[in-house]
Amino acid sequence: MTPIHSARRVLTLISVTLVCFFAACSAPDQSAVATQSADGGQSMTTVTKASFGKTANGTPVDIYALTNWRGMTARIMTYGATLVALETPDRSGRAGDIVLGYDSLEGYLKASPYFGSTVGRYANRIGKGRFSLNGVEYALATNNGPNHLHGGLRGFDKVVWQATPFEETNARGVKLEYTSPDGEEGYPGRLAGSVVYTLTDDNELKLDYRAVTDKATPVNLTHHSYFNLAGEGDILGHELMIKAGHYTPVDEGLIPTGEIKPVQGSAMDFNAPQAIGSRLAEVPGGYDHNYVLTRAGQGMETAAEVYEPKSGRAMTVLTTEPGLQFYSGNFLDGTITGKSGRVYGKHYGFCLETQHFPDSPNKPDFPSTILQPGRVYETRTIYKFSSR
Ligand code: BGC
Repeated sequence: MTPIHSARRVLTLISVTLVCFFAACSAPDQSAVATQSADGGQSMTTVTKASFGKTANGTPVDIYALTNWRGMTARIMTYGATLVALETPDRSGRAGDIVLGYDSLEGYLKASPYFGSTVGRYANRIGKGRFSLNGVEYALATNNGPNHLHGGLRGFDKVVWQATPFEETNARGVKLEYTSPDGEEGYPGRLAGSVVYTLTDDNELKLDYRAVTDKATPVNLTHHSYFNLAGEGDILGHELMIKAGHYTPVDEGLIPTGEIKPVQGSAMDFNAPQAIGSRLAEVPGGYDHNYVLTRAGQGMETAAEVYEPKSGRAMTVLTTEPGLQFYSGNFLDGTITGKSGRVYGKHYGFCLETQHFPDSPNKPDFPSTILQPGRVYETRTIYKFSSR
């Protein structure tokens, strides 16, 4: 055994013990779950499972904690395939939770503006909740004025997903699966979808989405965490870079007009890093826009970078998607008291939602979001964390 191997074995034993210790102390039904280890069993047990309560109709909800070697923990619950907490170290190594949400399931069941959710079938808006496909007009559930938002009244954020945890060399995660029946929320086709959350030892939270259908249907899945890299207060001092030369302007109902407009010379331009608050007054209502990412090809590329000067935390967003919705938490208004009794005021969190453009089913010039039977929808987004 090499010194590295023996050091790792000692760490493994300590880690397993700690996991068991915390499992025993913090939640009686929490357990280190049996997972497959790809490196002959030498990696530490870094996935635990606990009960997180029950939905109104009595369906049990579980929460999985993924922990890596570098001080990161991601907690994901099966209701909405939701990221409930994300602890990352600041520049002094102190871990803090950098996503908004609730301490318990009740908050999510009662009123959540999609905190940490997996959003689908169609993230963002579809104008008037209507679209035509192969000569048939479909009427979707409308839940945002006259429009369809984030999958409708009971979108993917409000269903319980089936979870399978796993461990790999230098990574661990949980796969969540949900099959949406034909006609759900008005969408055609039975859609079998999954999202795999993987936490790597490089401080990446990787999200892999997959879906197949038996009838042509629009699909646009995204992740809806409200980030606050300082862990508290407003996010106006966060410095943001978005690699996008264009965005899709919207009407008063936040439906794209169809125009693809250059950001240059406006408060929409984040190609050079800018504090989120620096030009907010020039954007009526705040940022809630889809950016057309500047891409070299179809693969994984950097979409955005964020730096928070007080904590020193930084986040890079990489994706295979063509668009990025930047939402500056404009509708948070102090009526939600979230984790640890924190009141979430306006702009206390921001979302960077990798996705296709809003209302694409009604915009023939936008990249298509229609998944055909026999084809596989596959996208990947990585949120990568560091500090300086
Ligand atoms: C949208 C906002 C919406 C929010 C709901 C964001 O993705 O862009 O317009 O209000 O989700 O929480």
